Amino acid sequence: MENIIEIKGLVKRYDDKVAIDGLDLTVRTGEIFGFLGPNGAGKTTTVRVMSTLADFDCGTVYICGHDIKKDPSKAKACIGMIQQRISLDKDLTIRENMILYSLYHKISSAERRRRIDALSEYIGLTEYMDNMVDTLSGGWKKRAAIVCALIHEPKILFLDEPTVGLDTQARRLLWDIIRRLNNDGTTIFLTTHYIEEAEALCDRVGIINRGKLIDIGPPEDLCSRVGATAVEYFHNGVKTQYRYFQNREEANEFVSTLPEGTTVTVRRTNLEDSFVELTGESVGRVR
Ligand SMILES: Nc1ncnc2c1ncn2[C@@H]1O[C@H](COP(=O)(O)OP(=O)(O)O)[C@@H](O)[C@H]1O
Ligand SMILES: [Mg+2]
Repeated sequence: MENIIEIKGLVKRYDDKVAIDGLDLTVRTGEIFGFLGPNGAGKTTTVRVMSTLADFDCGTVYICGHDIKKDPSKAKACIGMIQQRISLDKDLTIRENMILYSLYHKISSAERRRRIDALSEYIGLTEYMDNMVDTLSGGWKKRAAIVCALIHEPKILFLDEPTVGLDTQARRLLWDIIRRLNNDGTTIFLTTHYIEEAEALCDRVGIINRGKLIDIGPPEDLCSRVGATAVEYFHNGVKTQYRYFQNREEANEFVSTLPEGTTVTVRRTNLEDSFVELTGESVGRVR
């Protein structure tokens, strides 16, 4: 199967408010796909719809070839989900939470033991298994949530803003786990509003804003859309301004026209530049 997710014409409203506005999106089997957008863009809503936690108004969603409206249980069996607010039971230990998830997925007790042991070792949680949830830091809770989400061996893992609230070290450790899971065959769909996270992790990135897909592609392609070379310049107390060019020669030509005393940086365009240009979510730019 080439595309593990196929979304066509998805519309989701909350009363009068349109949260997802005619979304078409495909995710390829085996990739790390990043859904990048500012707060309120519609990322969580899309993930909740795909994982059958929220209903939708129009369109079709196929997960692993299953129409989620017609065959929700088959679609759900393919999906592991880690919500932004971790949904572990605080009154239980990590191991008990994992057992609860196994029971939910009707996994036999021998198989359950095997999977919990193997997964907790794989994710590096073995020594914390009998801790109560709240004794662990955010990064460890996230790892426990990942084990729970993987207990039924899903083909695709959804992670909604996985590193919000984590310190840099915990964030990097989580990135490594995500990469390793992907290397070992799990397709990853993550949402983020961190540009560097999308750039560091994702094979392809979809930029979403106000419920619409603005652009999609590998991070380096999105960067070159606006021009490979960026010029940042600042003169006379005006805000820093940005211009984008196809190459250094064109950039240098522009720089030579700037008045004396201008502070200038010429650099490669990054994903943040394209994001700002494509979403228009910034002020003070010169076109
Ligand atoms: N349960 C809800 N009821 C009403 N409006 C909602 C609800 N959930 C989300 N929204 C609105 O839908 C839009 C998309 O939200 P969301 O999917 O949470 O965005 P993101 O995850 O990108 O921050 C926002 O305008 C948000 O206010
Ligand atoms: Mg969200």
